Amino acid sequence: MPSRTPSHRPHEAAPPSVLITAGPTHEPIDAVRYLANRSSGRLGLSLAEAARRQGCPTTLLLGPVGGLGDVLTNTQTGPANADPEQAPDSGPAVHRFRSSTDLEALLTREAPACDVLIMAAAVADYRPASPVAGKLPRTGESVTLALEPVPDLLAMATKTLKPGAIAIGFALEEDAGSHERAMAKMARKGCHAIVLNPLATMDSPGIDATILFADGSPPLVPGPLSKDAFARRLIEVSLGLWAHRQGSAS
Ligand code: CTP
Repeated sequence: MPSRTPSHRPHEAAPPSVLITAGPTHEPIDAVRYLANRSSGRLGLSLAEAARRQGCPTTLLLGPVGGLGDVLTNTQTGPANADPEQAPDSGPAVHRFRSSTDLEALLTREAPACDVLIMAAAVADYRPASPVAGKLPRTGESVTLALEPVPDLLAMATKTLKPGAIAIGFALEEDAGSHERAMAKMARKGCHAIVLNPLATMDSPGIDATILFADGSPPLVPGPLSKDAFARRLIEVSLGLWAHRQGSAS
């Protein structure tokens, strides 16, 4: 069974580079309106902070959320994965996105270089099919908005990972008992683990999630935790999975 705690040490091997996505997407309807969701991005921010505290070069792809400064210390603006000189005590490299299209472009650029991908962003499933360049005028008539599916960015990104890299997804489900749906989601998206996340997590300071593993290891149920505490745990689990994979697979 894989170790669930980090086994990398500075004298053994360089810590893995970690790529985290966080926050909602805003899908444009016209120049001033968009479709969005209630994701705060808070957990992803805590994950980035926890990864940096473990000494990992960390890149955060961050959606349209406020309140960045109170969570991240020493935030950089450059690409961490591309910078081997990144100071060990500096913050994550942060790249901002608004729409799923922006995030897709960032993932295309960043995912092939990372060792650990954690996809905490709440990516839209549908977006307006034909966003209007200007501002839609009020006409007094009903309006029908045609939506098109957003590609599954996580499933696309896992296909571009380098050998030995791992991916962690999230599964936002109605209830905590949806193991089968989450396991199917994990397989469909090519992940090594998935965080089964009840809907109540949204807008909440805490999280009561279950971590499921693709290798058949038993689910991990940390119990109700603050998002900061859960983030520290998930980073430990991710680094343990990554370290195990270096010893057992290409
Ligand atoms: N995700 C993604 N691209 C999308 C939608 C979701 O990469 N267009 C990612 C999320 O970042 C998350 C995982 O897929 O890590 C699961 O998201 P979730 O909303 O739970 O699942 P869906 O694939 O959207 O399926 P469903 O809405 O049927 O639950």
